Amino acid sequence: MTVAPVITPIRPEIRALQPQLIQWRRAFHQRPELGFQEVATAARVMHLLRQWGYEPETGIAKTGVVAVIRGQKPGPVLALRADMDALPIQELNTVPYRSQVDGVMHACGHDGHTAILLGVAHYLAHQRDNLRGTVKLIFQPAEEGPGGAKPMIEAGVLQHPQVEAIFGLHLWNDLPAGAVGVRAGPLMAASDFFSCRIQGRGGHGAKPQQTIDALVVAAQVVVALQTVVARQISPLEPAVVTVGELHAGQARNVIADQATLGGTVRYFNPDLAPVMPRRLEAIIQGICQAYGATYQWDYEYLYPPLVNDPAMTDLVRTVAQQVVEPTLGLMPDCQTLGGEDMAFFLQAVPGCYFFLGSANPLKGLDFPHHHPRFDFDEAVLSLGVELLIRCLEQYGR
Ligand code: NI
Repeated sequence: MTVAPVITPIRPEIRALQPQLIQWRRAFHQRPELGFQEVATAARVMHLLRQWGYEPETGIAKTGVVAVIRGQKPGPVLALRADMDALPIQELNTVPYRSQVDGVMHACGHDGHTAILLGVAHYLAHQRDNLRGTVKLIFQPAEEGPGGAKPMIEAGVLQHPQVEAIFGLHLWNDLPAGAVGVRAGPLMAASDFFSCRIQGRGGHGAKPQQTIDALVVAAQVVVALQTVVARQISPLEPAVVTVGELHAGQARNVIADQATLGGTVRYFNPDLAPVMPRRLEAIIQGICQAYGATYQWDYEYLYPPLVNDPAMTDLVRTVAQQVVEPTLGLMPDCQTLGGEDMAFFLQAVPGCYFFLGSANPLKGLDFPHHHPRFDFDEAVLSLGVELLIRCLEQYGR
């Protein structure tokens, strides 16, 4: 990975925010909270917003916060979104601002997203006279699951006034610090989950003829599920079936009565949404039937594919080209089969979600997201603010 020096035309008012952005981010990092429990985080966000003259609302989808700012000039209603939740991971970093909460960690950069949106709020509060239209700042809970975006939309955050377009970013350690990754169309995948319990008939490890071995059935199911992507979906359609859990048996000389397995399914093409559970169940059913086992299963659509609007993506690309160091071959057409509930906002209104590169191997800041040693290069925080502000300023121009 090349290291992008963060040389950007960041305006002085935003550059001056950098120490505060770091301070806010580190405060969130030290006190991480899981989805729908972001009470202290929301309180801190509310406190700062009020200090700057906002009248924010909280308690939306439990812990969500929304603030609206109306500019002095007429213009569109735009929204920006950040997520606030942390993960159930024990942090292994030894930095002074490491998590103070056992078993909970900001291991995905949402602390940075919240700080960046606060930076935007601070900047806009001081630029009200120059601001065109209205901006809604949406601080969302529970992105890591079960999802705060959908309940916030159902609570009406995109209405009164009706939002015309929405933008958001994710700090991204797959890209060097300062790079921007974006693409029109699907950027991130649908994120579905399934679980299955296979019921056999247990017995003596030496008398298989008296049993239905749930463990053997489950093992065949796991292997056969891999053929859904390999043999039943077009190779031109990216998709993943991952079995992440398999539990069966308790003793070496006992044939397992029951087995449970669970996993996740990812794909970009929304047409695959009805296809995947059908294919999976056909395999589970067929194998269970062949061995005389029975099964119960459950398939859940958690997040749909995240699809960027082409015109809004052009805007983000234009903005990124203005501020990102051009010599580094940036702006890759990047895509990931990771899921993200920003997808629901982008189903509701046109918009664009993009990645802001945040890895810096020279500083040891290149562990992957959700790793217990994840951290990112804070130098990009002000760049995040600049990018989002430029999206607002240049929308519709
Ligand atoms: Ni994330």
